Amino acid sequence: MTDADTLRIDLLAAIAAAPDLAVLDGIRVAALGKAGSVTALMKTLGSMAPDVRLVDGPRLNALRDGVAAAIADRKAELEAAALDARLAAERLDLTLPVSPGPAGTIHPVSQVMDELAEIFADLGFAVADGPEIEDDWHNFTALNIPESHPARAMHDTFYLTQGDHVAPNGHPAGAATSLRWLLRTHTSPVQIRTMLNQPPPIRIIAPGRTYRSDSDATHTPMFHQVEGLVIDRGITMGHLKWTLETFVKAFFEVDDVTLRLRPSYFPFTEPSVEVDVGCSWDGGMLSIGGTASWLEILGSGMVHPRVIAACGLDPDEYQGFAFGCGIDRLAMLKYGMTDLRAFFDGDARWLRHYGFKPTDVPTLSAGVGA
Ligand code: PHE
Repeated sequence: MTDADTLRIDLLAAIAAAPDLAVLDGIRVAALGKAGSVTALMKTLGSMAPDVRLVDGPRLNALRDGVAAAIADRKAELEAAALDARLAAERLDLTLPVSPGPAGTIHPVSQVMDELAEIFADLGFAVADGPEIEDDWHNFTALNIPESHPARAMHDTFYLTQGDHVAPNGHPAGAATSLRWLLRTHTSPVQIRTMLNQPPPIRIIAPGRTYRSDSDATHTPMFHQVEGLVIDRGITMGHLKWTLETFVKAFFEVDDVTLRLRPSYFPFTEPSVEVDVGCSWDGGMLSIGGTASWLEILGSGMVHPRVIAACGLDPDEYQGFAFGCGIDRLAMLKYGMTDLRAFFDGDARWLRHYGFKPTDVPTLSAGVGA
């Protein structure tokens, strides 16, 4: 055996046994580096007699190439093993519960808004919204509540201190009209904005915040309403009644629901009705259904022809219905809270008790309140 053969056997054995990349690199330097054992043998080629070099030259080249190839193979092997070890060590168990545990809950008002969107989306309604800072034209005038109308006073409106301003170019109130900024007192201005911005047929609900200067156990200065609006040709009270019944059945998850429509008055609907839902009280517990007792849940009616005309539509061609309903009150009736003010206290215990898990996404198939 030549020196080269011995060296090859030793080196290949050491390479195969190298436990990690650092040891393997040490072997590479000791063999193929400037002062390496293979390099030293290669250097002897220069001083060889030509006939000896003819035999030893290819042999030494083969030694060098063989060692280099063995090092490359072992390197790939060790790197693959290192990657496997790292993947095993860094594995995440995605089934573990979140730590330190879920902290927040979905507020019942948000949950009920999601339930409303789910129910009405199934009936072909889109969700619309509008600004909470409104002008008195959208909030009152266009809704057939002129300046002198007692309903303006009844709304306990918060006016902004900026006071009056003149309608800017393109404002639907018309040039030079004097406008006042206010916090919207109901979601009905979204009816106006929707009719101005899109052609019929219109089917929308508009949930959102509303404001009135009023405060007791059943009134807070900020509260939530949902507006409903349908505008098309040939819309009647029959459509209104069916829509409300379908909504109330889905919302309270009760099939046996009776609605009572009482004649009422709103400036922006004609005729106007207040809607009661049949219910009963069992030992202080409310249950929806039957006709033992009645609870008022919303105001509604056929959109007044003057409101339709204020939005640039022909009331002889288009009719529709609208309704407005307190969301906080809906939540109280469905989920059993007794004091409205607690909705807005931000008390973590109340939120833990009445709040919903983020995973409790309302769906019709699971019953909206699931
Ligand atoms: N906007 C009315 C209110 O806040 C409710 C309502 C809306 C009534 C739509 C009829 C139609 O009292």
